[in-house]
Amino acid sequence: MKFNFIISSALFGVSSTSPTLLLKRQGGAAAASGDGPYGAVAVSTDAALANHAIYVPTTTNATGTAKWPVLVWGNGGCSSDGASNARFLGAVASYGCLVIASGAPASTNKGQTTAAMMTASIDFAVKVAGTGKYANVDATKIMAAGFSCGGVEAMAMSWDSRVKTIGVFSSGLLTNYTAASSFTKPVVFIIGGSGDIAYQNAERDFKALPSATPSWKGNLPLGHGGDLFQANGGKFGRAGIAWLEYIFRGNETAKNYFVADGYKADGWQVEAHALDQLKPFV
Ligand SMILES: *[C@@H]1O[C@H](CO)[C@@H](O)[C@H](O)[C@H]1NC(C)=O
Ligand SMILES: *[C@@H]1O[C@H](CO)[C@@H](O)[C@H](O)[C@H]1NC(C)=O
Ligand SMILES: *[C@@H]1O[C@H](CO)[C@@H](O)[C@H](O)[C@H]1NC(C)=O
Repeated sequence: MKFNFIISSALFGVSSTSPTLLLKRQGGAAAASGDGPYGAVAVSTDAALANHAIYVPTTTNATGTAKWPVLVWGNGGCSSDGASNARFLGAVASYGCLVIASGAPASTNKGQTTAAMMTASIDFAVKVAGTGKYANVDATKIMAAGFSCGGVEAMAMSWDSRVKTIGVFSSGLLTNYTAASSFTKPVVFIIGGSGDIAYQNAERDFKALPSATPSWKGNLPLGHGGDLFQANGGKFGRAGIAWLEYIFRGNETAKNYFVADGYKADGWQVEAHALDQLKPFV
């Protein structure tokens, strides 16, 4: 068991050397923009939340009183660069969403993030919602998600009552394997097929979920992280954004991406449970 843990930890980037392998540069914070209705996105930091990157649409209130959900994010390799998934996170924000990644933007990989940093993101979102440039933020709508090692951090948020849904991008539990059997929040798994080093852990965790937990798992045979690093986060990103639109806005097109055959055009191989029980938090 111990041996297995060391192997899989290294693969997910928990070791001190592998973050650089997982951390493909993508233009840093400057790459943060998206194809959503809010377009341009600013990446900032806040002294009240040290070592985090905050993605906010620059056009506030573009759709009148529209409420913005919140995405708290853990990076691949648990990297401390909060801009390491800037293309995807910028795209999420462009749909009208506050995104908070663990790690300052484009930091030079000073150590690694922790699940506690994701909890700090949630605390911050709850505190600032409804104020200043966060006027549209609705902190009753929080998704915790992450890529690879960051996905493990997100799964640790399953027990935070403020979090409504979990997103697992090319990830699966590394310890505490039985935890998935007690997940009750809706969860989306976005995985890179059998060539993804997280594939087996993701499959195991999905299988362990209670049958009543609304869940969707899509595999695209693109390997670890899929096309998350492409413009707007690629197809991995499209599925992630659709999940947010479905769960927090009841967007019918987004819903049909999962419950009808919307996903087929993108080529996902899918398993899903209890989506008919999923009541969007609108
Ligand atoms: C957003 O704009 C609408 C009018 O377009 C206004 O009624 C509303 O108060 C604004 N909301 C915020 C949070 O600024
Ligand atoms: C491990 O799983 C249990 C439930 O099975 C949960 O209560 C606990 O918080 C989990 N620990 C971590 C670190 O996620
Ligand atoms: C609904 O979600 C889709 C993404 O799945 C998005 O392209 C579309 O703009 C959303 N519709 C509205 C009205 O926000």
